[in-house]
Amino acid sequence: MKNFLKNKKVLLGISSSIAVVKIPKLIEILSKKGAEIEVVATKNALKLIDVKEIEKVLNKKVWIDMFDDKKGYPHIDLAKWADLILLAPATANLIGKICSGLADDLLTTIMLVFQGNVFVAPAMNFRMWNNFFVQENLNKLIETQFKILEPQEGKLACGEEGMGRMMEVADIVFNIEKFLTNKNLLVGKTILITVGATREYLDPVRFISNGSSGKMGMALVKAAVSMGGKVILIRGQCLREMYSGAFVRGDDQLKIFNVESGEEMFEAVKANIDQADIFISAAAICDFKPEKISKQKIKKKNEILNIKFQKTVDILEWVGRKCKIKNTSPTCPNDLFGQKDLFWREKLKIIGFALESENLIENARKKLLFKNLDMIIANQPENIGAQEGEFWFIDKTTEIFKKGRKEDIAIEILKKISQQSIDFLENKG
Ligand SMILES: Cc1cc2nc3c(=O)[nH]c(=O)nc-3n(C[C@H](O)[C@H](O)[C@H](O)COP(=O)(O)O)c2cc1C
Repeated sequence: MKNFLKNKKVLLGISSSIAVVKIPKLIEILSKKGAEIEVVATKNALKLIDVKEIEKVLNKKVWIDMFDDKKGYPHIDLAKWADLILLAPATANLIGKICSGLADDLLTTIMLVFQGNVFVAPAMNFRMWNNFFVQENLNKLIETQFKILEPQEGKLACGEEGMGRMMEVADIVFNIEKFLTNKNLLVGKTILITVGATREYLDPVRFISNGSSGKMGMALVKAAVSMGGKVILIRGQCLREMYSGAFVRGDDQLKIFNVESGEEMFEAVKANIDQADIFISAAAICDFKPEKISKQKIKKKNEILNIKFQKTVDILEWVGRKCKIKNTSPTCPNDLFGQKDLFWREKLKIIGFALESENLIENARKKLLFKNLDMIIANQPENIGAQEGEFWFIDKTTEIFKKGRKEDIAIEILKKISQQSIDFLENKG
C-alpha cells in the first residue's frame, strides 16, 4: 500500500493530559512512516513530560513560546508549513479555546491561522468527557471539519474507569493514513450538491418550507472538499451554524450559490450540471408551491384562508430522466450539451435521498429506478436535524445498512460512488 504519510508535514500539538507520556512513541511511528514533524507544546503539557524526552526522539527543539523567535512569526510560519495538524493529546481546555477562537499561546494561535485538515485526539477523565460544554465544543469541531479521533473506554490515569482514554497511538496513525487514502479519491471531479430547505412564498413575507437543517448536505460538501473534489453548492435554507466551516474561507474548491425557491434551485442546477461528474440531491425541496404569490401581504380578515398549491419541479427526476437519459440515448436529439459530451454524460453519477415514513426500502428503490439514479440513501424522519442516524445505501442490486454520524456517512457515500465511477471506467476498457 502507498505510504501516504511519506514527506507529509505534520504539526503535532500537545497539551497537558497525562496521555502526553505516549507522545514519544507517536513521534517514533510518524517518523518511521517518513513524516516531517514539528511539535508545538502548551506550557502546561511540559509540566507532565520532560521536554528533553520529546526532543530526543524528535531530534529538534519543541516549539513552546510564540515570542522566543524574536524576528519570526512562528504562528504564521508553522501554520503555512503544515500539511496537517494533529492535536494529541487534546485537553478539554485546548478544545474549548479553539472553539472560542482564543489565541493566548503559540498552539492556539496557530489553530486560528491554519486552514487544512486537523485531527484531534481528546484525552480526559470521563466526567470531563461527559461534560455538556465539552460535548458541545466537540460537536462544533466536527461541524467545522475537524476529525475527532474518539477516545476509548477503559482505565484512566486518575485511577477511575470510563470513557476518555486517548486513542492508542498506532490507531491514531492508522486513522490518519485511512483519511489520507481517501483524500485524493475525488481529485479532478466536480460534485454538484443541493443542500437545505427551499421556501415558497405566499406573499411578500410568508412562506412554506420544511425543517431540514442542511446537516447531511453540508457534511457531504465538507467530505467532498476534503477528498479533493471541486464542489458546486446550491444552498437553500440551512441552520445558521451550517454556514460556518474551516473550508468556507474563499477556498477556490468551493463555489456557493444561495437560493430560496425550488425554481431558483432548478435554474442553478441547470446552469451548473454540465460541469458535474457527480450530482447529489441532498436538499429538502418543497413539493408544492402556491399557485399564485400575492403581491401584497395577505390580510387576516377571514377565519379560513384557502390557497391553491401546485407541484414544484422535481429537480432530481429532471437530472436523472431528462438530462442523463436524453443525452445518452442515440434516438434522442442531443439538445442540452454538444456531441462531445456524450460519454461524459453517461458517466454522470446521480445520488438522491429518500426520506420515508413507511416501506422505506421498497419506496426508495422505486424512486431509484424511476428517476434513473445510481444510488439512493434511504432514511427516516427521525434523522431530520439529528447529528447521527440510520441510513440505507441502495443501488439497483444491493442495499447496505449504515449507522453513524452524518460526517462519517458522507465519506462512505462518496467512497461508494467514486468506486462506482472507477468500475464504470474499467468496464469500458
Ligand atoms: C496530573 C494532571 C493530569 C491532567 N490530565 C488531563 C487530561 O487528561 N485531560 C484534560 O483535559 N485535562 C487534564 N488536566 C487538566 C489540564 O492540565 C488543565 O485543564 C490545563 O489548564 C490545560 O492546559 P493546556 O490545555 O494549555 O495544556 C490534568 C491536570 C493534571 C494536574
